[in-house]
Amino acid sequence: MEQAAPTFWTKKDLIGIRELSRGEIELILDTAPQFLAVSKRISRIKRVPLLQGRLVVNWFHEPSTRTRTSFELAAKRLSADTLSMTASSSSHVKGETLHDTLANIEAMHADIIVLRHSCAGAPHMLAADHSSHIINAGDGRHEHPTQALLDAFTMRLALRENSANKDATLDGVNVALIGDVEHSRVARSNIFALTKLGAKVTVCGPVALLPAQVEKLGVRATTSLKEALCDADFIYALRIQRERQGKGLFPSLREYVKLFRIDRDSLRFAPDHALVLHPGPINRDLELSTEIADGSRSLVLQQVTNGVAIRMAVMHLLANSQSRQL
Ligand code: NCD
Repeated sequence: MEQAAPTFWTKKDLIGIRELSRGEIELILDTAPQFLAVSKRISRIKRVPLLQGRLVVNWFHEPSTRTRTSFELAAKRLSADTLSMTASSSSHVKGETLHDTLANIEAMHADIIVLRHSCAGAPHMLAADHSSHIINAGDGRHEHPTQALLDAFTMRLALRENSANKDATLDGVNVALIGDVEHSRVARSNIFALTKLGAKVTVCGPVALLPAQVEKLGVRATTSLKEALCDADFIYALRIQRERQGKGLFPSLREYVKLFRIDRDSLRFAPDHALVLHPGPINRDLELSTEIADGSRSLVLQQVTNGVAIRMAVMHLLANSQSRQL
């Protein structure tokens, strides 16, 4: 039975979508529009005082442009103080453990820690032992919860804007996730979020890039792009994670482009209304053609815009929740 959205946020941290209920996901999605409006202000200051006097630490152990800047901007638009740390600029390079580094940051009274780490489980491990709010900004191949939240928000907003139903949900909507599902934390978090929100998810890619038994996550799997796209309302092209792959997972990039690239030719398999997403950074003309990425069916830049609002919503809910002692 479907649960109603909870009125209050009760979790200290945001580690993964797997742990969230549909109600909690919807609470975040429903909190974001007010923050989207703040970012879109033209003649007034793009800032609200909800995290004034709080400290948000962006702690990135892996390269990132979009996610790091998005979190930083979100914190600033909530009037928080922000501090950035990278692996190379922290005492990690001198052998300090993540626990010790975090204990030191917390001794300076940090409130929210945004952590990206190449080890799956790193944010979970820290969240269990530390009192600050931990937000997972991507951990290895495990999860990237704010990406999935901003993706679901972007799809839902597109549905609402393109239909007469201003309360449209993702129930029954078909989403095709195309490409490197095996190595993608974005795919995992999206599968959890979209299925919880009632969407029907199809994953498609070369057989070596589809996780074994992926159907157990409640999705349909196919190696035929035509089959994946034929009823898709949204097409999500995943980045080929060359840095996470061994050699020989598919015959050649040329072969991949021929069979799986989202471009003008392959979009002929999809309904005319189908819209295209990508988490970025795009390998242009590999998984997604430039023409489509920059064209009228692309939601890529809306994803980036919505990402700031979703991260403002998440930080606000974690730090300002009334239901727990702060
Ligand atoms: C994603 C990531 O780092 O997991 N990118 C992002 O956060 N914008 C997707 C990717 O790198 O493929």
